[in-house]
Amino acid sequence: MRQKLGIVGAGAVGTAAAHWAAAKGIAQEIVLVDIVPGLAKGKALDIAQSAPVYGFSTRLAGTEDWAALEGAGVVIITAGRPRKPGMSRDDLLQVNLEIVKSCVEKIVKYAPEACLIVVTNPIDAMVYTAFRVSGFPRERVIGMAGVLDSARYRYFLAEALGVSPKDVQALVMGIHGDHMLPLVRLANVAGIPVKDLLPAEKLAEIVDRTRKGGAEIVSYLKTGSAFTTPGLAAVEMAESIMRDQKRVLTCSVWLTGEFGFKDVFIGVPVVLGAGGVERILEFPLTEDEKEALSLSVEAVRRQIEKTGL
Ligand code: 2OP
Repeated sequence: MRQKLGIVGAGAVGTAAAHWAAAKGIAQEIVLVDIVPGLAKGKALDIAQSAPVYGFSTRLAGTEDWAALEGAGVVIITAGRPRKPGMSRDDLLQVNLEIVKSCVEKIVKYAPEACLIVVTNPIDAMVYTAFRVSGFPRERVIGMAGVLDSARYRYFLAEALGVSPKDVQALVMGIHGDHMLPLVRLANVAGIPVKDLLPAEKLAEIVDRTRKGGAEIVSYLKTGSAFTTPGLAAVEMAESIMRDQKRVLTCSVWLTGEFGFKDVFIGVPVVLGAGGVERILEFPLTEDEKEALSLSVEAVRRQIEKTGL
């Protein structure tokens, strides 16, 4: 069983992930690691002190010592720089590449059996970096993005429909970037297609807002990017693995021919269980969707080339 959760990076996303994971009780033990002296320790202690009030039993620790990751079944990697206004996720590639490489080398040393969930941007290139550097099988190297992008898409649809976001199901495939693919055809509210409930112009507006969902928040925050939902999205993925829930979540995974693509990380719906990515749910796409997904794949390939790995 994967009872211990490691989180690397005690910035905003890592801290949010630790907070959600503790509150949801997905692990017996959570270890938050950051190279900045005291940062992870302080954040973990603050979250741990909420236990008596909120009512959870998860043990939390924060440290600069990578050895604390020993025995972690899942490690969420959030270390890296966030975007500033006007920056694209691609602008972070070189700086975050070095950070992710060095984190993964240490994680592999202490948690060689872990499933890695990569959140650092640009996610699809950083999960590729983690895959190459770790040498782990593709089942255990997974990028977060589809859960976050689908959450935004579902939220915007719910807002337009005036219904609970819980009842809206929709998926966003492809890159975590401007070429992501929010699927209109399959979006539904309690099983009713949204295209039968909302005008095409409104749907186009929502698709566009979803694609720019991260940048919208960066433009308001000015000093960083979204953290609450990115942290929760990573925790939802970790939970499915740690509890062997077999949730169907869209994640960035290494394709070996699925959907007509190979040797690339891209967001597709997968089944997450104790083995990590247990299955990729392949289904027929329309010509337009295929075309849109291939634009995503090309964009990720350009990023991957820049990693030099
Ligand atoms: C976002 O979309 C941080 O890339 C992340 O908010």
